[in-house]
Amino acid sequence: SDIAAIVVAAGRGERAGAGVPKQYRTLGDAPVLAHTLGAFAAHPAVGRVLAVIGEADAIQYKMCLSCLPDTRRLLAPVSGGNTRQASVHAGLAALADTPPAIVLVHDGARPFLSPALITEAIAAARAHGAAIPGLPVTDTVKIVDEAGRVTGTPERAGLRAVQTPQAFAFAPLHAAHERARAEGRNSFTDDAAIMEWAGHPVHVFPGEATNMKLTRPEDFDTAERHLRRDAT
Ligand code: C5P
Repeated sequence: SDIAAIVVAAGRGERAGAGVPKQYRTLGDAPVLAHTLGAFAAHPAVGRVLAVIGEADAIQYKMCLSCLPDTRRLLAPVSGGNTRQASVHAGLAALADTPPAIVLVHDGARPFLSPALITEAIAAARAHGAAIPGLPVTDTVKIVDEAGRVTGTPERAGLRAVQTPQAFAFAPLHAAHERARAEGRNSFTDDAAIMEWAGHPVHVFPGEATNMKLTRPEDFDTAERHLRRDAT
């Protein structure tokens, strides 16, 4: 297939507590990352799945593999960097020898994405080159300065809280990452922002409320409830 997925899981996940990185905490009967990798490995359109992991996490990664019914589409994992951006770059570099047409970039800490969301991301990337899932925001968002003073209130109707999987034509994403790196721009928090910076249009399609990023300890309680299907 000409579609690859990069799942970034090299973060330390310290905000989640509990010592072990959040992507390796158990959710139901498997580590979070096993759920996430399984979603891509089971999707018929995804030919290759590449995990980007921490240097110290090889054993925990193997435990994830042992939880998956089919690991044939998983490539050997690569080591991440100090930022999410660096970790995605490591994944792109590993794919560059035999580049896919489209690459999906997804957070290992978002185990609940649906097959339909993957399908939608691929279709949107084919149509638009760069496409990301987003949801309307329900909170009013403020811009604040370092002293905590509000300096602005963007109009809520025009805001989206964006998720992953973010989907891109491979070549322009790889080129934009290479350029950002070369120019010392290393604080982008998602791949769409790198594409925006490089001058590419980015399309937003509807995300999923269930596709949450497990970040704080309480997120795991919500996640366990969701897994047992008695969530809100
Ligand atoms: O920290 P944050 O929740 O934004 O991380 C989003 C995803 O990026 C997580 O799955 C995390 O493991 C990954 N990440 C990474 N390398 C880093 C930092 C974060 O792969 N250096």
